Amino acid sequence: MISELSQSSLKETISCNFHQCRAKTLALFVGIDEVTFCAQAHPDFSPIGWHLGHIAYTESLWLLEHSADLPCLFPQYRKLFAANGLPKCDRVKLPTLEKTLHYLDTVRAKVLDYLELADLKQQERLWQFILQHESQHSEIITFLLELGKQERRQLSLSPRRQEYQITSPPRERHRLTNPGEVVLQASTTELPAARKRPPLTSTPPFTEMIEIPGGEFEMGDSSVDALDNERSAHIVYLDTYCIDRYPVTCGQYLAFMEAGGYQNPRWWSKAGWEWLQTEQVTQPLYWCNNPAWDNHPVYGVSWYEAQAYSQFVGKRLPTEAEWEKAVSWDAKANRRRIYPWGNEQPTLELCNHDNFMERTTPVDTFPTGQSAYGLYDALGNVWEWTASWFDGYKGFQYYPYIGYSQVYFDQQHRVLKGGSWATRPWVLRSSFRNWYQPGVRQILAGFRCATSTNFLS
Ligand code: AVJ
Ligand code: FE
Repeated sequence: MISELSQSSLKETISCNFHQCRAKTLALFVGIDEVTFCAQAHPDFSPIGWHLGHIAYTESLWLLEHSADLPCLFPQYRKLFAANGLPKCDRVKLPTLEKTLHYLDTVRAKVLDYLELADLKQQERLWQFILQHESQHSEIITFLLELGKQERRQLSLSPRRQEYQITSPPRERHRLTNPGEVVLQASTTELPAARKRPPLTSTPPFTEMIEIPGGEFEMGDSSVDALDNERSAHIVYLDTYCIDRYPVTCGQYLAFMEAGGYQNPRWWSKAGWEWLQTEQVTQPLYWCNNPAWDNHPVYGVSWYEAQAYSQFVGKRLPTEAEWEKAVSWDAKANRRRIYPWGNEQPTLELCNHDNFMERTTPVDTFPTGQSAYGLYDALGNVWEWTASWFDGYKGFQYYPYIGYSQVYFDQQHRVLKGGSWATRPWVLRSSFRNWYQPGVRQILAGFRCATSTNFLS
């Protein structure tokens, strides 16, 4: 039971979080022109202006219409800003930024009035949902802006982001997938001659793996701010496995590109190779061809690229359960942590998140943010692809609507964990689950690898 006193302090916390979340959402629109506001940065995504209107629409629908029982304030926007209203390509005729801000402000004023009266014993979960909904759209807006910048860079042929070219014969690589089985050797593909950057002189660092002993751990979350797809917390048993201490870096990924990774089907799944032939990509979307970035995590890769790289080094992607155990389980205390470092909320000393840096950081920047097992950079910096399909946990019940998670339990979406440099604090936690189709690379996603046996020992 929440007492009257704690209801009022909870209301204060909620209104403070709503305010902080909104301030950062709006900061993204400073200096944005009408063309950028209304344009699709990519055909799979809605314009940033649509995301802004949809934030107001969702807040209004759930808090004012469904909870406060108020009539729809802006019925003219209902079709436009509903998640299932128009196809994405028809979301380009938008009200101006000014009108959209008026929409947001009008809804928010009513919402804060209603918060005074609302019974949080029943509604705390819904308010948390709305906060996390805006947080997620705020990150989507951030990467859509990033995508626009990326396109302008490519158009202006800035030397920092030239097309990567394969240049030298690949180095010999021998790695084991299963004990006793040598899998990978140098590719024999013919490679063009000109080099655009100096070679890596030594083995790239950050290849260390951590052995996670077999046993049970607690996965998921049952607290009031857990979304429907995180529920409920449940016990999972895993055999011993190894997982990379760090996300895969650009320096490591370069070895894959230099070995002809994008030209040789041997490392790709059938679906992955088909995807590659259709997309004709030769480097990660946000690739920066500069040795200064070698220690940053690679990102802007599809699940297929992550999987091909894993094969190349004789490893595989971790399952979601393997990722979550390595990040959240405190074996000594025999309990899960909300964050890798413990239960204290994220700060700038613990991980790269909330768009503070507006870019990635080297993978060893946050030793204080390590998990109990010693994983670095699990939260923030870049999302991490996992091997798992997105699905509901046992006893799944959708909330607040079936289209939030359940319609994506379709064996077409892979789970991503951990959040990125643009993830807002309200959706940054070890149990949080993101999901996209395996060919998507506009999201701020990288990965780390795992193995079933410890081939390094
Ligand atoms: C979890 C980021 C895949 O964008 O579809 C926003 C989040 N759901 N509004 C999405 C979401 C409804 C979701 N992702
Ligand atoms: Fe939404």
